[in-house]
Amino acid sequence: ALGLLEDKVLAGQRVLLTAGPTYEPIDTVRGITNISSGKMGYALARACRDAGAEVTLVSGPTGMAAPAGVRRVDVQSARDMQDAVLAEAARCDVFVAVAAVADYRVTNRSEHKLKKGDAPPVLELTENPDILATIASLPAAPFCVGFAAESRNLLEYADAKRRRKQVPLLVANLAQQAMGADDNEVVLLDDTGNHPLPAMPKRDVARAIVHHLAALLSKRAA
Ligand code: CTP
Ligand code: CA
Repeated sequence: ALGLLEDKVLAGQRVLLTAGPTYEPIDTVRGITNISSGKMGYALARACRDAGAEVTLVSGPTGMAAPAGVRRVDVQSARDMQDAVLAEAARCDVFVAVAAVADYRVTNRSEHKLKKGDAPPVLELTENPDILATIASLPAAPFCVGFAAESRNLLEYADAKRRRKQVPLLVANLAQQAMGADDNEVVLLDDTGNHPLPAMPKRDVARAIVHHLAALLSKRAA
């Protein structure tokens, strides 16, 4: 029982997470999305819950059930996700952005299903809001944790991303390795440098991230 209590490293913390892909409609039946199973985000939501946190998960479409004891808000598009996150941000101590947010949305979506007989549509795209950067720049910003999915130059790109978004902790992984898989190999980047973790099941990666996060929070509080 003592061991369990010692593991409650996030007791009293309110944690808000995003997970899964977003879906940006082209017409009533088609859309643009990212490849994301949601497994890493859901694993982190569970790990935060197990560490004693009060957890809210803003989730894109994943087909997964909400983890027990976690409050889930379902969203489709990046803008829906941003609205849901902004509605919760003031009530959280920690924000973890795991979602694979579509970087662009379609501005000329069709209100009806496109038909093949018509000329092929030309999609107009515009950039979506950066949810993590938005939250990190709030005056009373929660402690922000970001992810970086890169396909090459992992540490260089991830470090630049951490600086650009001004987040104290960023989790970097190779997209082609992580996508859909049950295991993941990540590097944690913070003010003290790079901390590589071994490849392991996402559940264990999530627990390791939670412990690193808890250590940074207690350092900050000291
Ligand atoms: N993110 C976000 N909102 C966006 C895009 C990304 O909150 N519109 C978050 C992701 O959840 C992740 C981090 O920002 O925590 C990095 O996402 P990533 O796609 O790797 O970075 P981008 O800033 O979108 O840059 P790029 O895709 O060009 O590498
Ligand atoms: Ca992106």
